[in-house]
Amino acid sequence: MTTHDYSALLTDLADEHRRRSPRSAAIHAEACRFMIDGGSHTLRLLDPFPPRITEAHGGWIADEDGHRILDLWQGHLANLLGHNPEVVGDELARAFASGFGAQSGLVDALQVELAALVCRLTGAERVRFTTSGTLSTMYSVLLARSFTGRSTVMKAGGGWHGAQPMLLKGVAYRDGGVGFGGVDSTGLPTALTDRIAVTRYNDPQRLADDIAAVGDDLACLILEPMLGAGGTIAATGEYLRLARELCTRHGALLILDEMITGFRFHPGGLGALHGVEPDLAIYGKALGGGMPVAAVAGRADVMAEAGRAKGRRVAFSGGTYSAHPASMLAARVFLGHVEAHAGEIYPRLGALGAAMRSAVEDAFAEAGILARCTGAVDELDCGSSLVTVHFPHHPETSLATPDAVFDPARCDVALRHDVLALALLVEDVNLVLAHGAAATTHGEGDVGFLGEACRRAARRIARHR
Ligand SMILES: Cc1ncc(COP(=O)(O)O)c(C=O)c1O
Repeated sequence: MTTHDYSALLTDLADEHRRRSPRSAAIHAEACRFMIDGGSHTLRLLDPFPPRITEAHGGWIADEDGHRILDLWQGHLANLLGHNPEVVGDELARAFASGFGAQSGLVDALQVELAALVCRLTGAERVRFTTSGTLSTMYSVLLARSFTGRSTVMKAGGGWHGAQPMLLKGVAYRDGGVGFGGVDSTGLPTALTDRIAVTRYNDPQRLADDIAAVGDDLACLILEPMLGAGGTIAATGEYLRLARELCTRHGALLILDEMITGFRFHPGGLGALHGVEPDLAIYGKALGGGMPVAAVAGRADVMAEAGRAKGRRVAFSGGTYSAHPASMLAARVFLGHVEAHAGEIYPRLGALGAAMRSAVEDAFAEAGILARCTGAVDELDCGSSLVTVHFPHHPETSLATPDAVFDPARCDVALRHDVLALALLVEDVNLVLAHGAAATTHGEGDVGFLGEACRRAARRIARHR
């Protein structure tokens, strides 16, 4: 294994970024006077400063300095139809023009239509809408604990379920043999974090052992059917089916966090394509068609913990803006659209994703840098729009578990985390932490643009190694 010192390259890239983007630099300086690190989401705050966006249409965005940027980040991987999808925007414009959309705190028929649609597409019996995945995973844990009367929650190392206290452990990888065991934020009481058990993703034996070790205190196991922030690693069907079986056998609930995967591979959850039915599932991101909406969906008897008949013992209050009408409308239009056009949308996304993964790998290979893109679900033929870049030290390195992709001994993590985004941004491509996704509005030309940008970035990186 060779480790590379990228500090000179990073200085060079930051200088070029400053030269090319003086307006974004100035706005960032102003932003830092009023906002922590200049923004409201850590992932958006590229070092030394992010491009300030003025326009976003389909697969492309434009910034204050006049750059047109190919956007693969696509709203935290939320957009399937690109930014500002016409089909959703037109409907919202009509609604706002008629005086509907910015009222709140009421119930209406629209949210019922959407709830029925979500239940039909996902197989859930009940759904409750929230404004974020973070809230949804938090409520799902409360439901599981209340329903089972148990307290331990199990998750996979590398799994990201939002910054909420119930699951803020085992997200970040720590070098030096620590791995994914640590607590990810200060401010959390140990009484809470002690009740979070962290297992190893895609490791059936470890899962069986870990569940056995917790025994009958296991309230739930929460898993992403494809680990997103943990490296865009598809769960094997074997692993998911075992998770289902073990949860059932031990009287625990299986929660599938489908925030990234829901409606991305077909109009439903990825778990369903593996034949796995969760007790609860979390949806969001794509679901909103560009608007903020998330949901907890699942078994009626579990969801009933939050209902009147059980004294609302789980305080699943939803929030002031839950089931916001503009979001409900956008989600209904989005789901209706992807269901009606599934035969075109999903094969297109799959083909674009595959072409992008190849374009990135080929471009880096030409410069002598080994790059591998995860995102595909090899054992299913559903295609995948996801593109996450890794730089393994050896061609035979398996990328099937998150410890592999975060371990500096196995992958060039510094290149992926510290260098890639800036190296591509100065080539007018936006990826965040090497994560990206194709949207239906991308095309062949964009794949070519991505390949060329990666080629130039790769040559530059190679010169500094
Ligand atoms: C798998 C997963 N769960 C939960 C969340 C949190 O969702 P939100 O950002 O909407 O709070 C995310 C966000 O990236 C996610 O990827």
